[in-house]
Amino acid sequence: MNIDPRELRQVAQAAAPRVDLYAGIHKALRALMADTLLNLGRADTEDTLELAEATQRVLRLLDMCRSHLRHENEFVHRAMEARAAGSSSRIEHEHEQHEAEIGTLAAQATALLEPDHTGRDAATLALYRGLSLFIAHNFEHMHVEETAHNAVLWARYTDAELIDIHNALVASIPPEEMMFILRWLVPFMNPAERAAMMADMRAHAPAPAFEAALELVRPHLSAREWQKLGASLGMAA
Ligand SMILES: [Fe+2]
Repeated sequence: MNIDPRELRQVAQAAAPRVDLYAGIHKALRALMADTLLNLGRADTEDTLELAEATQRVLRLLDMCRSHLRHENEFVHRAMEARAAGSSSRIEHEHEQHEAEIGTLAAQATALLEPDHTGRDAATLALYRGLSLFIAHNFEHMHVEETAHNAVLWARYTDAELIDIHNALVASIPPEEMMFILRWLVPFMNPAERAAMMADMRAHAPAPAFEAALELVRPHLSAREWQKLGASLGMAA
């Protein structure tokens, strides 16, 4: 991909102080994608239960990707188009391609769940390779969103407006999906991002939801990361 140096300069100048709609959720997606792919690669194709579990994780990832790109289309692209017509068209087109790729991969994964599937080894490898290409496309795609899309959003929206867009998007996510997102979001942030996210949640979510989120992410943090989070939130160790 060719990257215009002017674009990078512009983003570099704007990056630090602005609200970034993409940074956190894209870290979560990269973590979930990598973990799911590696898990499929090591799955025992002779072990029906293990292969089914790895395949279910692929299907869960694909659901998450489908949901994520719809959120971006409905909330982020709509906002970009409202103030910079045509600015989301390239990525919108890639989203259509991703929907098609998701459909193909989901069909491959579903076929692997059939108990008498013949040629499991070859089919599992084909799914692994197809998923790795899908993830490669998504990694490049997310980079364009984090640079070119953010440049448009930062040029045309204030931080307060971006927070409103973010809050409307988050409010549209059902609780079950939100817990799944949190499991991949919070552990793969850096300590400062993690502390800010959990402090915001404590301030705005009901206490039981905040407690549940802490319990959800704790097993996925090292002892040192957990200690830092506790210190940032002013919790007793
Ligand atoms: Fe996207």
